[in-house]
Amino acid sequence: MTTLSLTSSLTDDILVVGLAQGQPARKGGKATLVIESGDLALDAKSLEEILSDMGATGKADEVVKIPGNSVRLLVFTGLGKVSSAYGHETLRRAAGAAARSLINQKSATFALPARDLEGVAAVAQGAGLGAYLFNEFRSDEVVTSNSSLASAKIYTSHAAKAEYKEAAVEASVIAQYTFLTRDLINTPPSHLNPVTFAERMSAEVKAAGGARAGLSITVMTETALKSKGYGGITAVGQGSANPPRLVRISYTPTGKVKPAKRYAFVGKGITFDSGGLALKPALGMEAMKSDMSGAAAVCASVLAIAALKLPVAVDVWAPLAENMVSDNATRPSDIITIYGGKTVEVLNPDAEGRLVLADALQRAQEEKGLDAIFDIATLTGAQVIALGTRTSAVMTNNEALSSAFLAVSQSTGEQFWPMPLPTELRASLDSPVADLANIGDRMGGMLVAGIFLKEFVSDDLPWLHLDIAGPAYNDRSPHGYTPVGGTGIGLRSLVAAAKAQI
Ligand code: BES
Ligand code: MN
Ligand code: ZN
Repeated sequence: MTTLSLTSSLTDDILVVGLAQGQPARKGGKATLVIESGDLALDAKSLEEILSDMGATGKADEVVKIPGNSVRLLVFTGLGKVSSAYGHETLRRAAGAAARSLINQKSATFALPARDLEGVAAVAQGAGLGAYLFNEFRSDEVVTSNSSLASAKIYTSHAAKAEYKEAAVEASVIAQYTFLTRDLINTPPSHLNPVTFAERMSAEVKAAGGARAGLSITVMTETALKSKGYGGITAVGQGSANPPRLVRISYTPTGKVKPAKRYAFVGKGITFDSGGLALKPALGMEAMKSDMSGAAAVCASVLAIAALKLPVAVDVWAPLAENMVSDNATRPSDIITIYGGKTVEVLNPDAEGRLVLADALQRAQEEKGLDAIFDIATLTGAQVIALGTRTSAVMTNNEALSSAFLAVSQSTGEQFWPMPLPTELRASLDSPVADLANIGDRMGGMLVAGIFLKEFVSDDLPWLHLDIAGPAYNDRSPHGYTPVGGTGIGLRSLVAAAKAQI
């Protein structure tokens, strides 16, 4: 973890500044380069010429390093087109790309064109989020001895102001718990199954201060789940040698603080999705270690909310199961009973996420006084087809909640887009033998999955369903503050929603 702080004087010998693409001096001429160092004055002219000679372009995700005079190393990170007001996400990504490139360095100062508190917060977040490594399963000493940038100082003339300092602290909490989310996703199913996931979270709750911090955790075992009627979690988990779990983490603000809102967060926790008897093709199956990304995000987000002492109450539910093939596995045509009594005909054991979520959504709603319920899941391949790998979907039974969520998530840099739940698709989930089938129309598969979940949520309770199938896991190249592997998507928006008390 990078230590994040603010400074208004340059003492480090590594300096990170922005590099933007300016207008060509004349029509058809070469684009000029513009160094953007925010509150730090820099003699830019000669550097811009050198950078141009070197072929630097200033486009996003370009990082160029040159030796400096007053500092040892100058790091130029691309901002894209020159602007008088860079977007916060542009700053976050530029800081992230630079931080990613500073492996094994002790300390660097980031002077980027942040114009306000949110801008400085974004630079701090980007620097923190970019400095991530996952080498737990390597033995090569050269690799394991690598460390991420140890300290990032954000250069700003407001360094002494309390609200700016607070933003740096918040950025490091966000980075810390995003790293937990990413670590959980990146840990393979050989090492992370429902049992070890639950154990890990017990340890994390303790490390976060436990009861002193307003946190508690309970874990239901497979016998308890079976006897209490959690038919969804049981059916999905029964094909595996690693039994299922239901983890609950509760946070209530400590002291005399009366929570302003009560939320339930439910996250899909399939520690490996082989597809079950509807076995997935081998090509790409390895990415299904990330099918617990929703559970990881909700579990880490409640710890972040507790660390930030937000005055809201949050109940997190993580239904954990491994979807495997065996003589005990759920068969197509099996009928199961979800917690609360609804029956489901399992036509496709690969549509398992909705089954574990249905149990958890039902249980979560038994708690009194909820203001809203959120679920987050790597639920459908159709989500990736519809919105690609970097934009997640939002579905809802409450437009006001959805709009509020989209507004706060925008400030985090996480991309979400609203999707409908058309009533005419509901009929496709009819079963001739049970209350509901677990698959319906293939067309609009993301929406059908949302409609399935809606059957398990009270119409009176504002509900958001977040499908993060594409954005949860990056199997391409790293970019901005996003590494290869688990991205940690969802955590920032959930924390922002709690902070804004939407
Ligand atoms: N975990 C998958 C969805 C998924 C696909 C997540 C790609 C991330 C990347 C989910 O359990 C699944 O298998 N869904 C099926 C549903 C279908 C059988 C109705 C799908 O989307 O193909
Ligand atoms: Mn599946
Ligand atoms: Zn799945």
